[in-house]
Amino acid sequence: MDMTDLQQDLASFWMPFTANRQFKQAPRLLSEAKGMYYKTPDGREVLDGCAGLWCVAAGHCRDEIVRAVQEQVARMDFAPSFQMGHPLAFETASRLAAITPPGLNRIFFTNSGSESADTALKIALAYHRARGDGGRTRFIGRERSYHGVNFGGMSVGGIPGNRKLFGNSMLPGVDHLPATHDIKRNAFSKGQPLFGAEFADELERIVALHDASNIAAVIIEPMAGSTGVLLPPKGYLERLRSICDKHGILLIFDEVITGFGRLGGAFAYDAFGVKPDIMTMAKAINNATIPMGAVAIRQEVHDAIIEATPEGGMEFMHGYTYSAHPVACAAANATLALYEREQLFKRAGELAPYFEQAAHALKGTRHVIDIRNYGLVAGVEMEPRPGAPGKRAYEALTKCFARGVLVRTTGDIIAVSPPLVVEKAQIDRIFSTIAEVLATID
Ligand SMILES: Cc1ncc(COP(=O)(O)O)c(C=O)c1O
Repeated sequence: MDMTDLQQDLASFWMPFTANRQFKQAPRLLSEAKGMYYKTPDGREVLDGCAGLWCVAAGHCRDEIVRAVQEQVARMDFAPSFQMGHPLAFETASRLAAITPPGLNRIFFTNSGSESADTALKIALAYHRARGDGGRTRFIGRERSYHGVNFGGMSVGGIPGNRKLFGNSMLPGVDHLPATHDIKRNAFSKGQPLFGAEFADELERIVALHDASNIAAVIIEPMAGSTGVLLPPKGYLERLRSICDKHGILLIFDEVITGFGRLGGAFAYDAFGVKPDIMTMAKAINNATIPMGAVAIRQEVHDAIIEATPEGGMEFMHGYTYSAHPVACAAANATLALYEREQLFKRAGELAPYFEQAAHALKGTRHVIDIRNYGLVAGVEMEPRPGAPGKRAYEALTKCFARGVLVRTTGDIIAVSPPLVVEKAQIDRIFSTIAEVLATID
């Protein structure tokens, strides 16, 4: 096989979360990126309406991040973080601790959102055990939530398709709160929907069934992203927080999508005012330049685990070879400095009303049964084609791509989440392209 054959061989790569056979018949390839745009191998520009996979918050190939990565990989490609350290890791942790909610100032590094979810669950178990409360092992997740693909995150997650294959191999002792999505009462809500705080009361029912003394943690996405932009009803997060407090249950927010400006503040806490005990992050942590994730932990939770082990002993049996990888840290430090210098989280908040108006202008467009939004994220839900759920949205994705706009779809929902550097004219183009495309779809 010569190089040309190798480049044209589409068979070897088993693509993740992809209809492989369908894709390989009509591949959609991206080969360059800058700012708000991708470029295809044949030179076509594609406006990025979804920040890659909700992760390229500062726009693509930003010079200072590229430079930081280039310099770091040449200076020190790798250093272990087990019983050794390197300065960049401590800097990244401090930078993160400065923007996480007050008190969540201890940082554990991972390489992805999935690893962050499993790490958070293990920290919750370790915390209760350290306090002599080791019977608290149950977890409570939520239907229609996504916490990645590893066994812990998948178990607390609530995606039927993701669970179908592995249903009998999930973590034991997991319950699920009901999803909060309630289109009948909340369709076309702007911002947080009005109805549904009472969905949080289900937690009391689960606690009554299993007893609080057996429950370690509740894990939710403050806004569910990849299952369709599902916003927390007004009062819902507050109620969950207060029920967790009442029963000594830890509250974990999965901020893999909501973190780093998507909601118009650094984290969901800045948007909704509710503080978790543990928080997961990934994606935009370093503008998705190098795989990286992290978990922020309330200091008391961290201290309880650290202090339960005699001095000189390893306090937490957990970590990844690439935890705090120096090149990922260099990218993160450059990214976090850039977010601050350009005030991108604030920018997202300031653009939000314009974005909201542009999104809701699709009301009345063919097939659209709901539009919802917050910060710089919107979900446009379509009525599924009878007998063919998901087909309409997939067709919308391919047709938008053909017209030079990249969007993300899940089920029959189109998710729009551009980089935070998006301009108003680009917001208009994303939504007008969706409107044009929907008019052409049966
Ligand atoms: C809320 C949430 N948690 C976890 C993950 C998994 O992250 P990763 O794909 O980096 O493992 C995702 C990915 O979209 C996510 O949205």
